[in-house]
Amino acid sequence: MGVITCIEDLRVLAKKRVPRMFYDYADSGSWTEGTYRANESDFQKLRLRQRVAVNIEQRSTRTIMAGTEAAMPVAIAPTGLTGMQRADGEILAARAAEKFGIPFTLSTMSICSIEDIAAATTRPFWFQLYVMRDRGFMERLIDRARAAHCSALVLTLDLQIIGQRHKDLRNGLSVPPKLSLANLANMASKPRWCLGMLGTRRRNFGNVFGHVEGIDTMRSLSEWTNRQFDPTLSWEDVAWIRKRWDGRLILKGIQDVEDARLAADSGADALIVSNHGGRQLDGAPSSISALPAIAEAVSHRIEVHMDGGIRSGQDVLKARALGARGVYIGRPMLYGLGAMGEAGVTRALQIIHRELDLTMAFCGHTDIEKVDARVLLPRCGH
Ligand code: GLV
Repeated sequence: MGVITCIEDLRVLAKKRVPRMFYDYADSGSWTEGTYRANESDFQKLRLRQRVAVNIEQRSTRTIMAGTEAAMPVAIAPTGLTGMQRADGEILAARAAEKFGIPFTLSTMSICSIEDIAAATTRPFWFQLYVMRDRGFMERLIDRARAAHCSALVLTLDLQIIGQRHKDLRNGLSVPPKLSLANLANMASKPRWCLGMLGTRRRNFGNVFGHVEGIDTMRSLSEWTNRQFDPTLSWEDVAWIRKRWDGRLILKGIQDVEDARLAADSGADALIVSNHGGRQLDGAPSSISALPAIAEAVSHRIEVHMDGGIRSGQDVLKARALGARGVYIGRPMLYGLGAMGEAGVTRALQIIHRELDLTMAFCGHTDIEKVDARVLLPRCGH
């Protein structure tokens, strides 16, 4: 692969370098993948408004997301199994995010643990949590996040049951991968990945193993979800967590205006308009199309963020224009990581930042804080 110019280049390279089952885990949605695709393609329907003869020499993309200063309105999304895209993946991504100056969110279902990330970074990161049947384990995770100086807890509300992902079923996704003939043959064609994995001890769910009794055979996210995630989750659980956690609380997985109002009532600091990257309810609207109504209804009461489909800095600008204070990137980070490790995540961030900065300038803006819906052509904007 020659010069890396865009996120798509990183995706193509990651596909070559990461074993199929883990690449597919990242690059997939549930059922028909219709919502997964719409997350990206709906951004293309929005048209930007070019302005000229405006002084665009000094520009700033700096902002604040949930109390954390950010070099641009982008945070790293919590993604499961990140350390399977590349050995020690969460550590590499957290370091890249810290150096770039944006928030990093660690998933509960990560390979590296909360403590690994705390040891590898110097600034507070964010931790994502699910509501699990074992409330004791949740409490211990919250305590561990506090001890690691996490500044925000991202509570996922849309994955109490798991959407069916055909690719994962076909590939027999497991952690670590089963050493079947097909898997061994596939891994043998990814020497970088194999070498990395041989050189690390982090090859399992680092937040779970050794912390939950009886969990020694769990091999997949779906097995853990079925066993542990609590389908009785209600707003009372959110209130319980709100009481236990005195840092920022961010609710992830809001798609509906009514739920957004309840999220604002809950005392959370921010919500994330999200359909879980099109991995849960296939047939749900894209995140960017769900965003404007939610932002209009609640952004005066709670900070509104979004994720899903961000593949460029232009997408960041469009999300910002439609009311998101900030966005999260999952797959762009995973593609960078799978392609080139920490340098690949840094590359992904540079690409998105440059696209955002230049697009903002073409639209006659110098400060991301001042960008609003007027940066979009009205007939396409809403
Ligand atoms: C986990 O959150 C997943 O979507 O796989």
